[in-house]
Amino acid sequence: MSVNSLAPSWLSYPDDANDLASTVWSTNATRSAAGELTIAGVPASEIAATFGTPVYVLDEDDARSRAIAIRESFDAALASVGSSAKVYYAGKAFLSIQVARWMLDAGLNIDVCSGGELAVALAAGAPGARLGLHGNNKSQAEIDRAVSIGIGAIVIDSVIEIERVADAASRFDRVQPVRLRINSGVHAHTHEFLATAREDQKFGTPLSEAADVVRRIRSHASLEFLGLHSHIGSQIFESEGFAEAARRLFAVHAELLADGPVPELNLGGGFGIAYTSVDDALPVDEIATRFAEIVSTGAAALGIPVPIIAIEPGRAIIGPSTTTLYTVGTIKDVLVTDGEGETGAIRKYVSVDGGMSDNVRPSLYGADYSVRIANRTSTAEPALVRIAGKHCESGDIVVHADYLPGDITPGDLVGIPATGAYCWSMASNYNYLGRPPVVAVRNGEARVIVRGETEADLLRRDTGLETETP
Ligand code: LLP
Repeated sequence: MSVNSLAPSWLSYPDDANDLASTVWSTNATRSAAGELTIAGVPASEIAATFGTPVYVLDEDDARSRAIAIRESFDAALASVGSSAKVYYAGKAFLSIQVARWMLDAGLNIDVCSGGELAVALAAGAPGARLGLHGNNKSQAEIDRAVSIGIGAIVIDSVIEIERVADAASRFDRVQPVRLRINSGVHAHTHEFLATAREDQKFGTPLSEAADVVRRIRSHASLEFLGLHSHIGSQIFESEGFAEAARRLFAVHAELLADGPVPELNLGGGFGIAYTSVDDALPVDEIATRFAEIVSTGAAALGIPVPIIAIEPGRAIIGPSTTTLYTVGTIKDVLVTDGEGETGAIRKYVSVDGGMSDNVRPSLYGADYSVRIANRTSTAEPALVRIAGKHCESGDIVVHADYLPGDITPGDLVGIPATGAYCWSMASNYNYLGRPPVVAVRNGEARVIVRGETEADLLRRDTGLETETP
């Protein structure tokens, strides 16, 4: 065994560098008898041969069952405290027509935050009543379209939007249900949360102004006030931040009840998932139970009924479902020396055929991922690797650090689990790489749900080919 001194402190030397940690990989990811990664019965090599690499492989039953589990857990937990839940799927994590349909089938509503996301949800056949619109700077055209299709809720982010939504509702002769997004001053990230009077960020209305803003909303006959909204961050593992935000919002919620109905409280999304084997995400039924405790305690303390609790998870539903498959191209052992150049350790750079264009999270946020060889297992001694992309930037990293069997070789396939959320949706064409296809796998069958971009797609928007050369 040789522990590499370049390994981050959280990464331990593996007993088996072929294992698929069940907390990280999608439910139906296994190794075949021959050792190959197989997802929902479809071998990785078959997917790569049919669709090419990179490819996002989406385990359909994993996504569907997480959506159902979240809805059922919150329904049951809120019912036990005399209320009910409204679960939205946050489409920003990943949205395609078929995924939108799976979410609707699972009984979820869909939260969109742009005209484009709204168009995809509508193309999926979503009834307007089951959609919600977010955004700190919705255009009048986006508001108009949302109101015109009978959207179930619009989350007003700032005072200036009240008139815009009220005006659209009058023009379309509707009474538009709205929520008010609050800047609660609570911001949570993984294990910690920060609580201030008001967080220095662009979203929401300060809690201190909420009563006045709600008065203005209620003064419009074309608006119906549903309740307050708060979203405290993303990839959160602990429930204290949600509890603090709920406490703060409840105080105002209770005051608002004096002047009219406040049927709901929306506590946003943000539930964390495991990207590496050291991440310890809470099971959804525990999150739901904790939420029900938080809101029932909060309501009891103020002597008010428990409102309908709305939530908007994205990552926790779609994140674990997807594995990105890449082909290894080049491998380089880089001797990393200390300041004096006297001691050193080898970091094995394994470069793959995608990178920051299909997963920008490691370079943008320093996010950690894990990796396994997909086409085979190996008993070779594990080596510390860094999975790099093929883009012209040194920060183009897909996995900062993991151990892989040291005989990893060009042509091997590697799989990066938990790439379902904020990878495809934040993908780009940097260096003119086409965005990879999304392939859904289920019961031994694979089908493309979003096609990959071809060279023709990349050239399509460029008007140069239609222009005479001067
Ligand atoms: N609701 C609101 C108002 C949000 O802004 C978000 C995420 C969600 C719900 C869903 O959060 P989730 O359950 O997926 O954590 N690009 C970043 C994450 C940005 C999250 C933006 N808002 C990342 O890749 O980590």
